[in-house]
Amino acid sequence: MNFCRITGTGGYLPGAPVSNDDLVARGIQTSDEWIAGRTGIRFRHFAADDEQSSDLALQASLRALQAAGCAPDDIDLIIVATSTPDQVFPSTACLLQNKLGNRTAVAFDVQAVCSGFVYALTLAEKFIRSGSHRRALVVGAEVFSRILDWEDRGTCVLFGDGAGAVVLEASNEPGILSSVLHADGHYHDILSVPGQVCNGGVSGKPLLQMDGQAVFKFAVRVLGDTAVELMDAAGLPMSALDWLVPHQANIRILQSTARRLDLPMEKVVVTVAEHGNTSAASVPLALDAAVRDGRIRAGQNVMLEAVGGGFTWGGVLLRL
Ligand code: UT7
Repeated sequence: MNFCRITGTGGYLPGAPVSNDDLVARGIQTSDEWIAGRTGIRFRHFAADDEQSSDLALQASLRALQAAGCAPDDIDLIIVATSTPDQVFPSTACLLQNKLGNRTAVAFDVQAVCSGFVYALTLAEKFIRSGSHRRALVVGAEVFSRILDWEDRGTCVLFGDGAGAVVLEASNEPGILSSVLHADGHYHDILSVPGQVCNGGVSGKPLLQMDGQAVFKFAVRVLGDTAVELMDAAGLPMSALDWLVPHQANIRILQSTARRLDLPMEKVVVTVAEHGNTSAASVPLALDAAVRDGRIRAGQNVMLEAVGGGFTWGGVLLRL
């Protein structure tokens, strides 16, 4: 059992889809033409006021557990990637563990913004391959709507809420073929939420701010480089890739990345139109969508990759 593989996926989007025109109706100075044309986004979902990241994570996790044919008690490791935790502490992973009724797993959060899920999956792989754990629940869950500046039309139209989850189990067959992670804190200020809890209040602006064009250029460069690194590490040519499941931020980023890799867009899973950018949830949500609609099938080579605040970036090449 030196390997590990994904045995179930799940996703959850709260509430009804919110269209670009719905945002205009809420008074945001924008248009469907601008948002769809610049980003490919048509809809996003927003959690209800009483829904937290752990609630979305619970729904996605239950679906992933059902797909894997296992119960919450079968899980011995829970990692939640989120930048919008329910509370300062305890971790959203511990809150999720409680909601699942599991009392024995190791549980902790990972904070790598939009790259959080690939960071969490890579960590889970290392736990399982070390032999210390056998079955992990790896989740990306976000309520980004809570940290958006509704006065900033350049950012508030881009993001949505949601959760995606996978069950990763020890296996005799290689499921994860390669993984890479990177970070460069030099770029900490091109995408951030600089606020902090301080002396019973919030100090600094607790809302998302971004230099969109700097992020765009950075994303295209590192998503392309990461894809090459992952294929090289697995000793496979790019032509052996069946599906690229990238972080869903902007259709133009995905198209530029595919062009750089000489990869037809038919091999790229795109959910940004329906989900918007759900940060750490975007990759597992896209993976789940393509598994459930039958596009991604057993035995195919699938690459997950993401880039986000920090800056952080990385990916995982796997065979389902
Ligand atoms: O998870 C990673 C996080 N983020 C990303 O990956 C985002 C990366 N960046 C992007 O996707 C793009 O940079 C954006 C979609 C954010 C912006 O697109 P852009 O082509 O870089 O537009 P811009 O910021 O240069 O703005 C162009 C124009 C400006 O008007 P003027 O100055 O040319 O008159 C903006 O004021 O578009 C205007 N604008 C809008 N107009 C209507 C900005 N936001 C909006 C809006 N609706 N929502």
